[in-house]
Amino acid sequence: MTALPTVANPHHPFLDGKPKKLLIGGRWVEAASGETFETHNPATGAHLAHVAKGDKEDIDRAVAAARKAFEEGPWSRMKPYERQRLILKLADLVERHYEELATLDTIDMGAPVVRTFGNRQRVMGMLHYYAGLSINIHGETIDNSLPGEIFSYTLKEPVGVVGAIIPWNGPLTACVWKIGPALATGCTIVLKPAEEAPLTALRLGELIVEAGIPDGVVNIVTGFGETAGAALAEHMDVDKIAFTGSHFTGQKIVHASTSNLKRISLELGGKSPDIVFADADLDLAVPGASMGVFANSGQICSAGTRLFVERRIYDEFTERVADFGRKLRVGNGLDPETQIGPLVSAEQLDRVTDYLSIGRQEGARPIAGGMQLTDGDYAKGYFVAPTVFADVRDDMRIAQEEIFGPVLSAIPFDDVEEVIRRGNQTQFGLGSGVWTRDVSKAHRVAKGLRAGSVWVNCYQAMDPAVPFGGYKMSGYGRESGIQHLEEYLNVKAVWIKTA
Ligand code: NAI
Ligand code: MG
Repeated sequence: MTALPTVANPHHPFLDGKPKKLLIGGRWVEAASGETFETHNPATGAHLAHVAKGDKEDIDRAVAAARKAFEEGPWSRMKPYERQRLILKLADLVERHYEELATLDTIDMGAPVVRTFGNRQRVMGMLHYYAGLSINIHGETIDNSLPGEIFSYTLKEPVGVVGAIIPWNGPLTACVWKIGPALATGCTIVLKPAEEAPLTALRLGELIVEAGIPDGVVNIVTGFGETAGAALAEHMDVDKIAFTGSHFTGQKIVHASTSNLKRISLELGGKSPDIVFADADLDLAVPGASMGVFANSGQICSAGTRLFVERRIYDEFTERVADFGRKLRVGNGLDPETQIGPLVSAEQLDRVTDYLSIGRQEGARPIAGGMQLTDGDYAKGYFVAPTVFADVRDDMRIAQEEIFGPVLSAIPFDDVEEVIRRGNQTQFGLGSGVWTRDVSKAHRVAKGLRAGSVWVNCYQAMDPAVPFGGYKMSGYGRESGIQHLEEYLNVKAVWIKTA
């Protein structure tokens, strides 16, 4: 196996100095414009690669290839079992190259290897789950009440060409989360990775070719959101967009979809409440609630950034969380000791440090972190100290807007009904948490919160079989679970007069 990069020698085998190309119709091609953009390591600022800057013309070519594969290619004639075999073959290749892919995530977007390597079960589990679902797609026979003999049943059919637009906060899992269900259902796909972290998708593309997935079934067009992404979202020959990212961009995608009324699923941001009752096992709740925000430097859509703490333990608990935050090892993700890596980009750093100032101006009190880290090697990257703001009020911007950095707002509360009401005072509804030893309290809160996931005495648990998605402005549609496949399927009713 290839030697993996270290902090001292961050050279990755995929980074061979050659410009990275687009995968269209099974071939690696330059952007029609010939242009490229650069991607770099957010921990050190080091240049990593030139990447093809795809735009509308490239999206047109990729969609045409995907359409051809959907309608004419061998893919369109494959039986579920053959699709399953191809997904399993891809899974084997991903497993064999897992550390290489995970390290590429680390180098390109900053997440520490403890995290990217730790996602192995999740990534492999997803691929195996979709492989299983591919032979499990079925319609229904339906008893109807029409007079005479007339029989009715449904067929489930792939929606067609899917455009997938993904963010940078977990490139490998995001790719698999979109490509997996497309392959399972027999769709074809054009994937537009995030410009901040395009490399893992491209290496995965090589494995997709190696697995023997037919040409044009998976196409990968790197490029920017406002150009390549927008062209995909408004394309007349794309049947569905699966999007993960900010709710602002989600709204643009909905507007763009009116061109041909394509289907959409949106997994957007959040401002998730995480509620700690005084009767909770606090030794469990301290690390759980802390990492529910600080993990991946806060760059997780379902992060539990509004930490509601029952008033009689508020001071003690928030101080313990602050202490947990202060002790986290922040650094280069290639260091196996690192727990928290950099933010992904200068843009994200500006955004997060702006919110640190806003929090102070609003009167919140930083009791841990509260600043960018700039000493020594930190100066080369985009590092922010894990931050806990105390004395946060519900109406502050830091309690309402998604920050997407390692910033936690601690808010006191007094009773169950009150905290359910205040927990729901947000435009979002993605994740939520409750920590208590009282099972009826846990149920009441789980039922009362308007969010797609509720974690009780844990946070951020994810599994390929359990649906994940949003209420309100966190989007619609579900990923994972059997619900996920429905997003990629059409239902056709068939009527047969039998007499
Ligand atoms: P973004 O939503 O702009 O980008 C996500 C993806 O959408 C990228 O692939 C981007 O190229 C693409 N995109 C951007 N504009 C587009 C357009 N007009 N049409 C089609 N595609 C477009 O998010 P960004 O700029 O990376 O981050 C900004 C904020 O968004 C973050 O601070 C965070 O609050 C939130 N965010 C939420 C994520 C989530 O998982 N829910 C992931 C990433 C960001
Ligand atoms: Mg953007």
